[in-house]
Amino acid sequence: MAEAMTDEQIELVVVAGARPNFMKVAPILLELEKRPGFRVFLIHTGQHYDEAMSTGFFRDLGIAEPDLNLGVGSGTHAEMTADVLRRVEPVLIERQPGGLVVVGDVNSTLAATLAASKLGVPIAHVEAGLRSFDREMPEEINRILTDSISDWLFVTEPSGRENLLREGVDEGRIHLVGNVMIDTLLSNREKARESDVLDRLGLEEGGYAALTLHRPSNVDDPAQLAALFAVFEEIHSEMPVVFPIHPRTRAAVERQLGDRPPAIQMIDPLGYLDFLRLMADARFVLTDSGGVQEETTVLGVPCLTLRENTERPVTITQGTNQIVGRDPGTIRTEVRKILDGRAKQGRIPDLWDGGAAARIVDQLAADLNAR
Ligand code: UD1
Ligand code: UDP
Repeated sequence: MAEAMTDEQIELVVVAGARPNFMKVAPILLELEKRPGFRVFLIHTGQHYDEAMSTGFFRDLGIAEPDLNLGVGSGTHAEMTADVLRRVEPVLIERQPGGLVVVGDVNSTLAATLAASKLGVPIAHVEAGLRSFDREMPEEINRILTDSISDWLFVTEPSGRENLLREGVDEGRIHLVGNVMIDTLLSNREKARESDVLDRLGLEEGGYAALTLHRPSNVDDPAQLAALFAVFEEIHSEMPVVFPIHPRTRAAVERQLGDRPPAIQMIDPLGYLDFLRLMADARFVLTDSGGVQEETTVLGVPCLTLRENTERPVTITQGTNQIVGRDPGTIRTEVRKILDGRAKQGRIPDLWDGGAAARIVDQLAADLNAR
């Protein structure tokens, strides 16, 4: 990807590190490939590294392997952030790119941004401005800090713009462009229909619930985890609950519930196309994921979010998402409504139309060429 350079080209360093980052960088990389004025150097920080959490997505999404993997692996927040900072800095010094593109809100996002900022590399943050207003969420700290030192703030929904303006950000830095994760969903929707995941798992269209769970607030506390699994087991007695389990959650389940494995359908994390098919044909989705709240809105599938808040309010005000918290009674009531045919209906938010990456690259081209 980094070959075939000419002097007139502007090099962009694009950074990805954890599962949701790959779906977000993919449409930007594919768009940049079409633009002769740019060349790309793709860095994978290595924050996620299992085949099922990392390599598989490059194949599924049709994007080239990273030019460099920093291999930071797992650790505490400080360890991961510090390792990315130390390892990305010499690469930025050597390459002197025209800009850095970061996505989302993971530790890799913040660390790469901080390194670039001190080196004077202009930074584009894709998915800026989202706020849960919950500083116990590690991602909230990453969002606030990343936005505060980025030059372009590419926003997915109106709340992002409002939050940034409230924080005193200059309006000229904010660009409401839509949602790159939805670009990826729309361009893979047809391919995902061919996935045989339902046959492999013995499921029928509309006859199961899909579950994802990995937020520390849900999985790190044994009492919380046990209470949630008790509700999932109840639902499973009526309709299969299929859970592609995040490695963080698998470790917590083994540690905390090891003597009695939960009676639901637990499977390894799925590839993107399989997971898209699983979501699209589910009767409903239970999740604490950020991205899944948005994807279910576009798919028109009811989504119950097992959190007390969301940084993606448009999925509530316009989409099919509902915040149900962690109270078993509330979860039960909302599941019952869906099973009785009273699921929330929604619409697709403006600009979630498959064109976000093109709008981002247009803006970058205009601004970088003017420098
Ligand atoms: C990270 C992000 C979170 C994002 C999630 C997406 C931060 C602060 N958190 O959370 O915002 O929603 O990714 O999935 O950046 N592990 C493996 N194999 C892997 C990756 C992780 O076994 O390939 C295990 C390790 O035990 C690791 C744990 O999962 O310690 C947590 O990984 P980490 O990247 O720290 O956080 P996530 O919970 O994945
Ligand atoms: N996803 C996937 N396989 C799975 C679970 C999720 O491909 O088994 C995809 C999902 O469709 C979305 C992204 O991973 O595109 C969301 O990542 P995750 O929930 O890990 O992170 P978050 O969005 O919460 O930061």
